[in-house]
Amino acid sequence: MSKDPKDMSREELKHMEYKRVPEVPLGTVPPLGVLPDKMHAWVIREDRFGEPLQSFQEEIMDLPEIGVNEALVLVMAAGVNYNGVWAGRGKPVSVTRMTGKDFHIAGSDASGIVWKVGKNVKHWRPGDEVVLHCNQSCDTFCGQCAGYDPMMCQGQKIWGYETPYGSFAQFTKVQAQQLLHKPKQLSWEEAGSYGLTYFTVFRLLVDRAELKPGEKVLVWGAAGGLGVFAVQLIKKMGAECVGVVNSDEKGELIMKLGAKGFINRKDFPNLAWKDNSTPEEAKARMQDWKAFGKEFQAKMGINRGPDVVVEHVGKVTFPLSVWILRKFGRVVICGATSGYDLNFDVRHLWMHQKKIIGSHFCNGEQAARANELVLSGEIKPVMTKRFTWEEIPTAHDLMARNLHFGKFSCLVSAPAFDLQNTDEARNTKKAEKAA
Ligand SMILES: NC(=O)c1ccc[n+]([C@@H]2O[C@H](COP(=O)([O-])OP(=O)(O)OC[C@H]3O[C@@H](n4cnc5c(N)ncnc54)[C@H](OP(=O)(O)O)[C@@H]3O)[C@@H](O)[C@H]2O)c1
Ligand SMILES: [Zn+2]
Repeated sequence: MSKDPKDMSREELKHMEYKRVPEVPLGTVPPLGVLPDKMHAWVIREDRFGEPLQSFQEEIMDLPEIGVNEALVLVMAAGVNYNGVWAGRGKPVSVTRMTGKDFHIAGSDASGIVWKVGKNVKHWRPGDEVVLHCNQSCDTFCGQCAGYDPMMCQGQKIWGYETPYGSFAQFTKVQAQQLLHKPKQLSWEEAGSYGLTYFTVFRLLVDRAELKPGEKVLVWGAAGGLGVFAVQLIKKMGAECVGVVNSDEKGELIMKLGAKGFINRKDFPNLAWKDNSTPEEAKARMQDWKAFGKEFQAKMGINRGPDVVVEHVGKVTFPLSVWILRKFGRVVICGATSGYDLNFDVRHLWMHQKKIIGSHFCNGEQAARANELVLSGEIKPVMTKRFTWEEIPTAHDLMARNLHFGKFSCLVSAPAFDLQNTDEARNTKKAEKAA
């Protein structure tokens, strides 16, 4: 009989033989070395593109094969992101057309256990407990990857959005460079919840906006997935923020996370940009912008606009984001939930020498640096709701309708909530019902 994986050296683990089985039951962690032919997955297909309850359907799929620089990961829990909603809609781009496959498994966040590694993988072995960052690059040591920033690589892709095997399945395949250490103090579901939005905000604030101590920041959607990490990181960097939210309950949350103040955007009903406004509408909007600007200053305790605005709402907020900045201020944008064809008065940009900076996810080095602050407990995931495997479409539906805040994540192979490691997961029976 071959050696028990528990007694194998790390080198032996890399080369272990796998026993093929047809399937492993959902919500269980099989022994290391067991490899199913098939896996459960939530699958999006072109003929059902639409809102999440329609686009996400459960199917049995073949297990993906891995390449020499890749790892197969048993997904323990998977985090929900807005890109799952975009993927399901097939808009603004069709995910299946992007990947050339007739299926798409969404999911760009996960915690899990490394199950198998390709022959060139040096640092990781089956059994390692991990979280994933979602940036993939060309894997051929191109000049940009090797010499500058993998985010500049022509082959750069977001795993689980621009690649077909994301985290809403029992197994996922990733590039080994995407693996990061799982913070031991977090449950599987907490660990699977934070990567995409936190790492995005990390690059955006640290490397793109180059935020400095003492600077004042306005954060849109401050209780959302990006927002809860922006608020924590801004404080950690010695700067201050006022966050925008749509309820006082969310405002209280961001105050606990370290915001200096919050603005409830419901107090400004004419704030949003609308193309082709009537002169009356434009006048009402400008009045709201001025009042909003005053409220920012009052909450921040200064008499000028922000140095930096964190943007991801797009169409309806971007013109105000440019307008409200102080002279020489920067707006850093990484998304456009409300629409991407932006319209703004460019005179405010040049006359006051403001900057618009684009930012997109992050590279592996930034993700590792950001993850260290979670490993040490200095940045914390903000989980507001936890879901079971069966509830994965419902979780996306709540996000699509903006009926959520913070982050949430869903069990996959973890049998129950609040389990923190492989042994606890192996020793726990799958819960019959969600907690
Ligand atoms: N490029 C990247 O790497 C990257 C990474 C992560 C996310 N993104 C994109 O960034 C966007 C936000 O992601 P997220 O995870 O933070 O989503 P989220 O959890 O849904 O949070 C977004 C927040 O935006 C606010 N919002 C939504 N519609 C708004 C409107 N019409 N006016 C003002 N505020 C509005 C909401 O806050 P209130 O209703 O409380 O104001 C909401 O909490 C998405 O479009 C996502 O695809 C891009
Ligand atoms: Zn490259």
